[in-house]
Amino acid sequence: MKINVLTLFPDMFAPLQVSMLGRALEDQKWNLNLVNFRDFTTDVHHHVDDTPYGGGAGMVLQIMPIKKALDSLESKGKVIITAPQGKTFNQQMAQRWANEESELTFICGHYEGFDQRVYEMADEVVSIGDYVLTGGELPTMSMIDATVRLLPGVLGNSASPVEESFSHGLLEYPQYTRPADFEGMKVPDVLMSGNHGKIAEWRLKEALRNTLINRPDMLENRDFSAEEAKLLAE
Ligand code: ADE
Repeated sequence: MKINVLTLFPDMFAPLQVSMLGRALEDQKWNLNLVNFRDFTTDVHHHVDDTPYGGGAGMVLQIMPIKKALDSLESKGKVIITAPQGKTFNQQMAQRWANEESELTFICGHYEGFDQRVYEMADEVVSIGDYVLTGGELPTMSMIDATVRLLPGVLGNSASPVEESFSHGLLEYPQYTRPADFEGMKVPDVLMSGNHGKIAEWRLKEALRNTLINRPDMLENRDFSAEEAKLLAE
């Protein structure tokens, strides 16, 4: 997957170039093209923003440098603007992008809003939650991380994305490793029983419990299996 990012702060993207995503970048499982749209300004001071028509506080990011930066790309794929007024990003979106897109282009604002006409250049406007950050860089990094880790060969253990939170519409079940007893805090007996049927049942029940306690909204439209309904009734 090729990912282009239009940003005023390309240095902010260093965290994507270490650890698992960094290794995957080296292995060319994905490709990151950082484009500073300030480089596409034509005035001596390299302004990317101006005062809003109609007056009011703050500045507005201009369309021209962003459009020129977009036009400089060989290809764009799906164009995404990160903004708090977008639809909320989730695991399904990450999965869909990982499965269906070969190229994504993110446009990051900073401090201020975009000229409305910038939105017309985007296929999607996406938010990472109901709070306002100083810029689109952190949201873009979150979305890139969530998407790229789902690409084939990026995670070492290819089984793990299947078992994790959200992938079955439930939060994850609790996990334990050695020691079996840490200062009196014990691992549930069932996990050491070797009874795989009982372990699977315990895990499903705990996943249901976690979801019911922490994210009941996730269960609202769920088609419960017969086993899930039985465990919930217990
Ligand atoms: N830019 C500023 N806040 C944001 C948010 N919550 N999601 C996406 N982009 C943003």
